[in-house]
Amino acid sequence: MIHNYTNQDSSRLKQVSKPSDLIDGYDRQITYLRLAITDRCNLRCRYCRPESGVPFIPHQEILSFEELEHLIGIFCDLGISKVRVTGGEPFSRRGCLPFLSRLRQLKGVESLHITTNGVKTSRHLDELAKIDLDGINLSLDTLDPKTFWKITRRDYLASVLETLHGVLERGIPLKINSVLLEDTSDGEIIQLADLAKNYPITLRFIERMPFSGVVRPTKLENGHLAERLKKVFPAIEEQTSTLPTTARIFSLPGYKGKIGIIQGYSRLFCQTCNKLRVTPAGMLKTCLYDNGALDLKKMLRSNADDNEIRAAITSCVRNRFANGHEAEKFSGRALEPSMANIGG
Ligand code: GTP
Ligand code: 5AD
Ligand code: SF4
Repeated sequence: MIHNYTNQDSSRLKQVSKPSDLIDGYDRQITYLRLAITDRCNLRCRYCRPESGVPFIPHQEILSFEELEHLIGIFCDLGISKVRVTGGEPFSRRGCLPFLSRLRQLKGVESLHITTNGVKTSRHLDELAKIDLDGINLSLDTLDPKTFWKITRRDYLASVLETLHGVLERGIPLKINSVLLEDTSDGEIIQLADLAKNYPITLRFIERMPFSGVVRPTKLENGHLAERLKKVFPAIEEQTSTLPTTARIFSLPGYKGKIGIIQGYSRLFCQTCNKLRVTPAGMLKTCLYDNGALDLKKMLRSNADDNEIRAAITSCVRNRFANGHEAEKFSGRALEPSMANIGG
């Protein structure tokens, strides 16, 4: 059944305007912080982690909520205005919802988002709407229960769809992330894209990024995503954007929403990259592909004062790599065993 959701227009998306003091050596202004609050997850997506899971980071090695809030204050002083809470699965960590409510109150956090797999999210939606969350990115690679099981090794498609419709009902801006796999058929692409036809959402197809030992790059990860999409949807038209964004966005006649692609493996958007990452274990990353630029947990736990932490972050930003290819080359290693150790 197609529901008629209406109050999803993009005017709800705030334009973040505060200038940032965090400027790297390539003149990129850093305004966006991705905070991974846990490495745990209730799915086992085959492009992310093995069935047995990845060894959990011990609880005491994960930043406490208090440490996270302290850090966010520091980042906002420096110029961060958009915060995305990720995982693993953020709702796998007890206390995630009250944490989000507190973040909403933090001075400097102008725009607050989460990325979630949607398994446990539906029960929190009233509260998320109440705190006026600025957006939810929901991971959903297929609408077929059997394929869902094959990809995630779990049987939770119904719960994810409940979240999807719950988000739409409440008018929280929604993007769907679909990692495209070698065996994703044109039919499945069309079925997923139909979500953007029927609902005012952005459906983004994502290039799979090979994590150590998990998968080797295939044709799909080598820049063929746009060609594939153009073949399946000859009428798509690319939109131009001056805002820093990971996604290339396309419109299609008659669609309520938009289609996008994220070429994270090809790394075509690095020249406008405006983000920093903090891993669950408290490492600052200035690029998804670097080895970790600064041990923030160590600084916090050795009672470094805020000025020292601010100076150390600023210095890492100044020394940031030009792009993800350079970061990968100089880090001299493959990515973490799982995306969950980074937070995507
Ligand atoms: P918005 O632009 O705020 O909607 O979020 P996002 O696309 O940055 O975040 P999301 O958590 O939805 O991530 C979607 C996909 O983009 C994931 O596969 C991420 O790993 C990938 N991605 C996000 N940022 C980067 C980046 O800086 N570099 C690379 N290579 N991939 C990224
Ligand atoms: N390559 C690309 N995207 C990935 N994600 C998880 N693992 C990978 C990978 N290997 C995506 C999830 C989620 C986002 C945070 O990252 O699907 O939507
Ligand atoms: Fe969990 Fe996301 Fe990894 Fe899937 S991709 S196992 S949902 S952390």
